[in-house]
Amino acid sequence: MIERYFATCPRGLEQVLAAELAALGGQSIEPVDGGVAFAGDQALCYAANLESRVASRVLWQVGQARYRSEHDLFDAARALPWPRLFDVGHTIRVNVSAIRSPVKSLDFVTLRVKDAVCDVFREQRGSRPDVDTQAPDVRIHAFLTRDEAVFYLDTSGDALFKRGWRAAGGDAPLRENLASGILRLTGWAPPTPLFDPMCGSGTFLVEAAMMALDVAPGLDRPFGFERLAGYDAGLWRTLRDKARARRRQLNRLPIYGSDKSGAVLGMARENLATLGLTDAVELKQMDVLDGGPPAAGGILVMNPPYGERLGGTDELAAFYPRLGDVLKQRYAGWTAYILTSDLNLARLIGLKATKRTPLYNGALECRLFEYRLVAGSLRRRKSAPADG
Ligand SMILES: C[S@@+](CC[C@H](N)C(=O)[O-])C[C@H]1O[C@@H](n2cnc3c(N)ncnc32)[C@H](O)[C@@H]1O
Repeated sequence: MIERYFATCPRGLEQVLAAELAALGGQSIEPVDGGVAFAGDQALCYAANLESRVASRVLWQVGQARYRSEHDLFDAARALPWPRLFDVGHTIRVNVSAIRSPVKSLDFVTLRVKDAVCDVFREQRGSRPDVDTQAPDVRIHAFLTRDEAVFYLDTSGDALFKRGWRAAGGDAPLRENLASGILRLTGWAPPTPLFDPMCGSGTFLVEAAMMALDVAPGLDRPFGFERLAGYDAGLWRTLRDKARARRRQLNRLPIYGSDKSGAVLGMARENLATLGLTDAVELKQMDVLDGGPPAAGGILVMNPPYGERLGGTDELAAFYPRLGDVLKQRYAGWTAYILTSDLNLARLIGLKATKRTPLYNGALECRLFEYRLVAGSLRRRKSAPADG
C-alpha cells in the first residue's frame, strides 16, 4: 500500500535528501524547506530509515485536516483511528510545530492533541497510553500551517543522526547527517583522498568511511516503526541482512584526519573503532598551520571552531588569514570546503570562494565555502603586476 511520508533534514540539504529518496525508489518527491515529502510502501519507509545519510526523521502521514481554532485541532485528532496505529501499552509523546499558524500557544495545542489521542483510546480500548516525554515508544507529530494540520507518526524513533557509532563527543561535534550531507555536496568519492585537518571527534571521517564501505547508517539501531501496528519484522530483517552483507571489506581508505589536540584525536580513534575502522583511516596530531597535506590533491573538509571557542574575535581574526595562506601555499591541487557560522571568514581568509552554500547546523546559520586551490592561480596572482 502506498503511504505518504515526510523526511526532515538539516535546512540546506533538501535536494541531497530528495536525490537519496529518489535512488531508494520514492515517488511524488517534493522538497520543501526543512525536508522532503514523498510516497511509497512500507519497504520504502524502512529503507529510508536504514539508508538515508541525510534525513533526521521519517514521518508517516496519518491524518490531515483544515482548521481555524484549537478546538478544530482537538476534533481533527479525535477523529483519527489511533488504536489501530499502535498499542495502548506504548508510551507516547506529542510534538507540535507550526509555520504561520494563528494558534496562540503550541503548548496548549500539544496538550489538546494528547488529550484527543487518549480520549480515543479510552473510548475504544477502555484505557489510555501513558505519556513519556524523555523516551517515548511512539512519537506523534502535528504540523500546522495557516489553515491546515497534518498528523504524523514518527517511524524513526531517535533522530536518525544517532547512528550508534559515537562513543566520544569532542568539542562541538557536527551532527552525523549534516556531515554526510556536506560530503555529498563536495562530490567526494574514493579513490580521491579526503582530509579533515580539524577533525575533532572524527564525524566527517567516520561518515566518509561508511560511505566508502557502503555501510548503511541505520544497521545497528532500533527504529520507531518497530512499535507501530503492521510492523513487518520479516521484511525489516531481510532489508537489514541485505544491507549488512553489502559492506565492503577494505583495509585502507584514502581518508585522513588530523587535529592539534591529542585528547580529541583519541575520541576520533574511539569512534572509528566502534565500526572497526581503526586501521582504515589515518590520524595524525598536527596543527593545521604547521603541517601539510597527506596527498598531492583531493578534497579537504573542515569545520573550524567558532569564535567563542577559539578564544575570542582577535584570535579568530589572526587565525583565518594564516589558514588562507597555508591553503594557498601548501594545498594546490585540493578543493577545500569550510563550514562555518562565522561569515567574516569569507573576508578574513583572503581566498576567493568558488561556491557558498547556506546550511543550518540546528538553528545556527552557516555557510559551506568552497575554495578551488589551483596551483596556477597562485602563480598568476604573483606575476600579475609584471603582466601589466
Ligand atoms: C568545531 S571542532 C570540529 C568538530 C568536528 N568536525 C567533529 O565533528 O567532531 C574544531 C576542532 O579544531 C581543532 N583545532 C583548533 N585549532 C586547530 C589548529 N590550529 N590546528 C588543528 N586543529 C585545530 C580543535 O581541537 C577541535 O577539535
